[in-house]
Amino acid sequence: MDPAGEVSVAPIRAEGHIEKREYEGTKPVTDYDAGIDAALQRLHDEGRYRTFIDIERCRGAFPHATWRRPDGTERPVTVWCGNDYLGMGQHPAVLAAMHDAIDAAGAGSGGTRNISGTTVFHKALEAELADLHGKEGALLFTSAYIANDATLSTLPKLFPGLIIYSDALNHASMIEGIRRNGGAKRVFRHNDVAHLRQLLEADDPEAPKLIAFESIYSMDGDFGPIEEICDLADEFGALTYIDEVHAVGMYGPRGAGVAERDRLMHRLDIINGTLAKAYGVMGGYIAASAKMCDAIRSYAPGFIFTTSLPPAVAAGAAASVRHLKSDRDLRAAHQTQAAILKTRLKGLGLPLIDHGSHIVPVHVGDPVHCKLISDRLLDDHGIYVQPINFPTVPRGTERLRFTPSPVHGPDEMDRLVHALDALWSHCALNRAELSA
Ligand SMILES: Cc1ncc(COP(=O)(O)O)c(C=O)c1O
Repeated sequence: MDPAGEVSVAPIRAEGHIEKREYEGTKPVTDYDAGIDAALQRLHDEGRYRTFIDIERCRGAFPHATWRRPDGTERPVTVWCGNDYLGMGQHPAVLAAMHDAIDAAGAGSGGTRNISGTTVFHKALEAELADLHGKEGALLFTSAYIANDATLSTLPKLFPGLIIYSDALNHASMIEGIRRNGGAKRVFRHNDVAHLRQLLEADDPEAPKLIAFESIYSMDGDFGPIEEICDLADEFGALTYIDEVHAVGMYGPRGAGVAERDRLMHRLDIINGTLAKAYGVMGGYIAASAKMCDAIRSYAPGFIFTTSLPPAVAAGAAASVRHLKSDRDLRAAHQTQAAILKTRLKGLGLPLIDHGSHIVPVHVGDPVHCKLISDRLLDDHGIYVQPINFPTVPRGTERLRFTPSPVHGPDEMDRLVHALDALWSHCALNRAELSA
């Protein structure tokens, strides 16, 4: 990074981001098969080739699922790494709304939002989301990834000369949107408001500005300094853009996120959220002023040129948002589960990363060990936790990321804790064997 904080390559952090040095400087390849083989071999060599685990979730029994092994055999597993944080993916209110919508409207929406794909279900969901965040409007996208990418890449069209100040650990979707937008960007050190101030001070006071950050960073589970960032935004006349993807449904009196919990929602210009994690369905959105939504709706290719979500998905998401506005007990149970798991893992002396949120990452620090531990949990104990490696997290910080939920019972928690205890002792005693 140069002293002004301008970087030519976005920091390597988040899911889906390809590090520049991975493909830069390699010779042009016309043997396409060889090119693919070499690219895949590089991942194997680094121990970070990704293997997807095929599971079948069981309605009414989640987090229990069936793992279909590559040889066709099956094994029951408990899912400990999903982002259906509250189990809303199987909530009766959500399922009933989806069934009703399919019965009423059929399967797909049949078009882009502009061409026949705006239905009463989409409008109802947007109204629900605007109300959730106390904003005039909300705009639905097919995912929060697309919402981030489409919105952030469009903003310079609205504000020529816009400078975006982006937290170094922002999600890949924000990085991509900011990178492609053709505007100026500054990357501030993660959660470092002093650095952000330096960068703001170094720029033309007249230039339009926007600060983009997250409320909870999903891999470490730490919180963004929302109030301090809003203060700086006020001081320097900047807009604020917050990603609350890992907080909506779970924090705040009505589940609107950390900004709601901290009574700061009104200070944020654009709030991004997902309907795929705590809300248990699919889709993403921004909530903002009516004018902002109108402009993004009108200019963002990622909103305009794609088929809208199926009506049943919109209906299920709306039912979930509506339900979680009042179900504080579920939110409380979620936090309790996370606190219990953290206390128990700390009791085992495991290297837990604990910033007080619901996310429970255990540091391993090596991609091969991380995968081996994950394989053994799955094979020997029927516990499914996917290893998290580069590029989702920086190299050397590979981890297991547990996501306890209110639908994980005490027996499942016991089994997880005992398995980790046994495995960690085994690893400590037989490190060489583990890496063999
Ligand atoms: C911080 C953050 N923002 C956005 C997204 C994208 O969310 P979605 O799955 O709805 O595309 C993710 C997904 O993991 C995320 O972690």
